[in-house]
Amino acid sequence: MIVPADVPLLRAARREPTPFTPIWLMRQAGRYMPEYRAIRARHGFLDLCKTPDAAAEVTLQPVDRLGVDGAILFADILLIVEPLGVGLEFAKGEGPVIHRPVRSVADAERLQPIDVDATLGYVFETVRIVTRALADRVPLIGFAGAPFTVASYVVEGGPSRDFLATKSFMYEEPAAWDRLMGILAGATARYLQGQIAAGARIVQLFDSWVGALAPADYRQFVAPYTRRVIDAIGTSAPVIHFGTGTSGLLAAMRDAGGDVIGLDWRVDLDEGWRIVGEGRGVQGNLDPAVLLARPSVIRERAADILRRAGGRPGHIFNLGHGVYQQTPVEHVKALVDIVHELSDRR
Ligand code: CP3
Repeated sequence: MIVPADVPLLRAARREPTPFTPIWLMRQAGRYMPEYRAIRARHGFLDLCKTPDAAAEVTLQPVDRLGVDGAILFADILLIVEPLGVGLEFAKGEGPVIHRPVRSVADAERLQPIDVDATLGYVFETVRIVTRALADRVPLIGFAGAPFTVASYVVEGGPSRDFLATKSFMYEEPAAWDRLMGILAGATARYLQGQIAAGARIVQLFDSWVGALAPADYRQFVAPYTRRVIDAIGTSAPVIHFGTGTSGLLAAMRDAGGDVIGLDWRVDLDEGWRIVGEGRGVQGNLDPAVLLARPSVIRERAADILRRAGGRPGHIFNLGHGVYQQTPVEHVKALVDIVHELSDRR
């Protein structure tokens, strides 16, 4: 049995009515969970991503523990840059490091096209294992980083606050930027198609840091590549197009594509949906910091978001960004139960 097309998450992504508002959480699999930390004690992070049985187990942990309406593939947006040959490492306690960042025209010219099937087959294997294990329960959500957010790591060499190296490169060397973004867009399209072929029923494109850009720069330097990725998915699966700090970019992101547009907590959900327009769904948008507070507070904030969504078809409940590591598991479970209870339309 595979997950039927009429489960709430897939219906909401198509803006069809659902018996309750479906919910899943970014970073629902991760360090806030003792079960995750137990597996992680035995594997380095990259090693965990590359061990399909273990990655599949981590993917399934929150489905069993929380009762969420979707399983997000356990992987990382940066896996796709490993075959670029830029030296990816997840350093202990520091997050991702890229040892040979791309900063010049010569660096960009040296980049090899990414052979997704030859180098990322382990991700497709995880997708197949999870799809089999989920049977007809909830859909598997595949994902990839959007070209801008992935490029920002490749150029900066790691996380950044102001993205100065990325922006300088984009402004100063538009042809080299085009080469880098073109390689990433082509590989990302193929990567998402591979996840869908292996069993993912919906995919999310993470453009987490795109909110750093002015709208005109987004339209010129980012949207064409994001659009290329989303167009390549076509009708094979719904696409959730997510970013943070994007209040001023929502219309441009919608124009770049996506059936559902992700909203972070810096915009009211009803205002964000008004900008996105009734023709698309929205996902979000609880501040993940609310999950540090007691359940009565979580309930008030969740109720406000559901009220702003007004029961309209096309809302997928989520956080505005990922679960913080300090979050008590019981608070996450409480949120899932609260959203299901308050949105019950049966
Ligand atoms: O549950 C899930 O959401 C699925 C798995 C997932 C991970 N990373 C696992 C992970 C997903 C969807 C991602 C996406 C990702 N990775 C993004 C986009 C989402 C976002 O947060 O904006 C980004 C920017 C990355 C890059 C990345 N990976 C960073 C910056 C870090 C370090 C920060 C941190 O939280 O430690 C990672 C490592 C990472 N990816 C961890 C996990 C569970 C922590 C690694 C560990 O176990 O030590």
